[in-house]
Amino acid sequence: MTAITDIAAVGAWLRDARAIAVLSGAGMSAESGVPTFRDAQTGLWAKFRPEELATEAAFRADPRRVWDWYASRREMMKDVHPNAGHHAIAAFQQRHPGRLTLITQNVDGLHQRAGSIGTLCLHGDIFADRWLDTPRNCCHIDHAVAGHPPYCDRCGNLVRPGVVWFGEPLPYATLEAAQQAARTCELMLVVGTAGAVYPAAGLAQVARQAGARVAIINPAASDLDDVAHALLSGTAASVLPALLAGV
Ligand code: OAD
Repeated sequence: MTAITDIAAVGAWLRDARAIAVLSGAGMSAESGVPTFRDAQTGLWAKFRPEELATEAAFRADPRRVWDWYASRREMMKDVHPNAGHHAIAAFQQRHPGRLTLITQNVDGLHQRAGSIGTLCLHGDIFADRWLDTPRNCCHIDHAVAGHPPYCDRCGNLVRPGVVWFGEPLPYATLEAAQQAARTCELMLVVGTAGAVYPAAGLAQVARQAGARVAIINPAASDLDDVAHALLSGTAASVLPALLAGV
C-alpha cells in the first residue's frame, strides 16, 4: 500500500474520528530547542552514546557521570518553551474534551506546560527525583544530602532521575492506558519519533491492527513508515497547527 501525503485528506480523517491518539517523540520538541535524543550528545558528552548512559548499570558503575549528564539535560530543558505544535495539540484537547489522548515518549514536560491534560508519559519525567533502591524509613527525597547524585546520609541510597532507562519496564498503568488508547482510536498521529524504541513504537502497530488510520508527521523517514496510511513530511511546529487549527 502506498501512503498518501495529502494533509487535507488527513484533516478529513481527523474531523471524522471520534477518538484520536497522538504518539509524540523527541522531534516534537526539536523546534523548542531540545535536541532530539540521538542528536543530544554535544560538547562534554559527545563521546558517550545515550545507550551507554541511560541505563541502571551505567548509573551504578559511575553515578556521578550519569547524574551530571542528566543534570546538564535538566539545565538545558528548564529554559525552553512549548512550540506551536505543543500548543496546537493542547488547544485541540481544550476544544474537544476527551477526544484526543496524548501519549509521549518525551521527558521534558513541554506538552504539560502547553496545557495538555492527562498526558501519558511513557518514559517518565526528567525533573522528578526518586530513589535508586527501594527506599527505607530513613530515605526522604526532601532530606537527601546534596551531591552528584544526592544520597541518603543514613543508608547511602542514591537519588536517580525519574526517567525510564533502557532495559527498564515502562510504568504499568501508563502503558496500559496508552495501549487502550491505541486499540480504540480511529486515527493515530505519530509525531517526531524515529519509531525505533519499543514498546512505545509498537503502539502505532496496535492502532493500525485495530483498524485505525495512522498518519506520521516527520521531516525524515522513520521506522514506522510502513505502518502508516499517510506520511506528512514536515515539522511538528508547522504541520500540527495547519492540521488541527480549523477543527
Ligand atoms: P529520536 O531522537 O530517536 O528521533 C527523533 C525523530 O524526530 C526523528 O525521526 C527525526 O526525523 C524527527 N524530527 C526531527 N526534528 C523534527 C521536527 N522538527 N518535527 C518533527 N519530527 C522531527 O527520538 P525518539 O524517537 O523520541 O527513550 O526516541 C524514542 C526514545 O528513545 C526516547 O524517548 C528515549 C530514546 O532513547 C528513553 O529515554 C527510554
